[in-house]
Amino acid sequence: MISTGLQTAAYLVAAILFILSLGGLSSQESAKRGVLYGMTGMFIAIASTMLGDNVHGHIYLLIAIAIASIIGIVVARKVQMTAMPQLVAILHSFVGLAAVLVGFGSYIDPHAQELAGGERLIHLIEIFVGVFIGAVTFTGSVVAWGKLDGKITGKALQYKGRHLVNIILVIISIILGVMFAQAAGTSGMTYLLIMTGIALFIGVMLVMAIGGADMPVVVSMLNSYSGWAASAAGFMLGNDLLIVTGALVGSSGAILSIIMCEAMNRSFLSVIFGGFGNTSSSSSQKIEGEVTATSHSELADMLHQAQNILIVPGYGMAVAKAQYPIHELVKKLQNDGKKVTFGIHPVAGRLPGHMNVLLAEANVPYDIVLEMDEVNPEMEDIDLVMVIGANDIVNPAALEDEGSPIYGMPVIEVWRAKKVIVMKRSMATGYAGIQNPLFFKENTDMLYGDAKQSVDELNKLY
Ligand code: TAP
Repeated sequence: MISTGLQTAAYLVAAILFILSLGGLSSQESAKRGVLYGMTGMFIAIASTMLGDNVHGHIYLLIAIAIASIIGIVVARKVQMTAMPQLVAILHSFVGLAAVLVGFGSYIDPHAQELAGGERLIHLIEIFVGVFIGAVTFTGSVVAWGKLDGKITGKALQYKGRHLVNIILVIISIILGVMFAQAAGTSGMTYLLIMTGIALFIGVMLVMAIGGADMPVVVSMLNSYSGWAASAAGFMLGNDLLIVTGALVGSSGAILSIIMCEAMNRSFLSVIFGGFGNTSSSSSQKIEGEVTATSHSELADMLHQAQNILIVPGYGMAVAKAQYPIHELVKKLQNDGKKVTFGIHPVAGRLPGHMNVLLAEANVPYDIVLEMDEVNPEMEDIDLVMVIGANDIVNPAALEDEGSPIYGMPVIEVWRAKKVIVMKRSMATGYAGIQNPLFFKENTDMLYGDAKQSVDELNKLY
């Protein structure tokens, strides 16, 4: 057992480690360190909480931790990179459920019954708000998981007057909250249960109303909710570390959501309230020009001639697992004295940082992996761009066609380079389901085929 003073000190150390962890995760070079800080912080947090003098039944806790750790390790080892968003979504649902259970537990806790006056009122508000946020997070995350995993339709489910229904439900919840706060002893349980049911329903409806392309933002928003749910649980339990950690997750999730909205040119509020995620093309612009194809040997010749080469990877690189042969090719090009850089769009692939993680996995040096804002101004100097398995993120319609569903989304403006080769299997559309005028541009050729097979072939020819 440790004293309260020691526990507070341990919590402070853990909180600092969590902040350092978030700082570390902000760049590729320091990400591993960031994860280590986070793990150490979490170990200190769990150990010091378990050793606190108000904790009993250690053996049960240890068994629960052992089982959960095994499940966590197995799932983390098994998960495919492309299935990460689903995993993150379902993990958020656990945080929401935990907050609900903590809320009910705190309400029936005999010690809490001893509270009186203002202290009791504050405790009851913490419980009510915590359970509400937790329940919305729980069902919202389960629906998000179902949608991302293809178990529930990805389309936005909307009905007329749904905003009004949601507002009425929130008002009913507030009234229930007032009645709950006035109820003596644990007689407010009925109000708490009804509100939980309403909040579970709101969670389902909120996320059901959001469509395909907005789902990544929803996941990061639910990440933010789960942070606030954890924070609320911290208030209920009187645990400062949980409050701080929850607030860190809550605010970083909210910031990430806003960054992603900007990268996809969506308004944050329209994503939250749904209705803008259905990308039905209303474009009236006719694409002019002809599609021209090239061959591996021609591309190998172009690579010999080019001095300044840009690679723009997208979702197709992830599917084909082409990052390894790409790195091989990059090393050969560099050995020949060529300048090779990668241009990464903030929403390339299917999850934030998707491309960066894959390139890091293949040991591509960080200093040649640049962001969209760094490559766009230099585009005219590029001799050859290889677009590998990317589509929406290099679509000029985002700048040129006001009727396009992705109009206004910043893109990597590869067509401004001297020559562009698009490596994909067909003329098929990408995630947004829209045609790409880039393929028809005069300075662009298509190299059809699986990205990995194409790069393997190039490695043989170059
Ligand atoms: P997409 O626009 O989805 O295009 C990927 C392209 O890769 C497809 O057109 C496909 O064409 C090609 N492809 C698939 N498998 C391939 C393979 N084995 N070899 C070669 N090519 C292959 O991807 P993007 O350009 O990366 O853009 C990302 C899109 O996803 C954006 O619309 C973004 O808003 C959305 N989104 C992003 C996120 C985050 S957070 N990153 C999350 C969800 C959605 P073929 O079938 O012709 O090969």
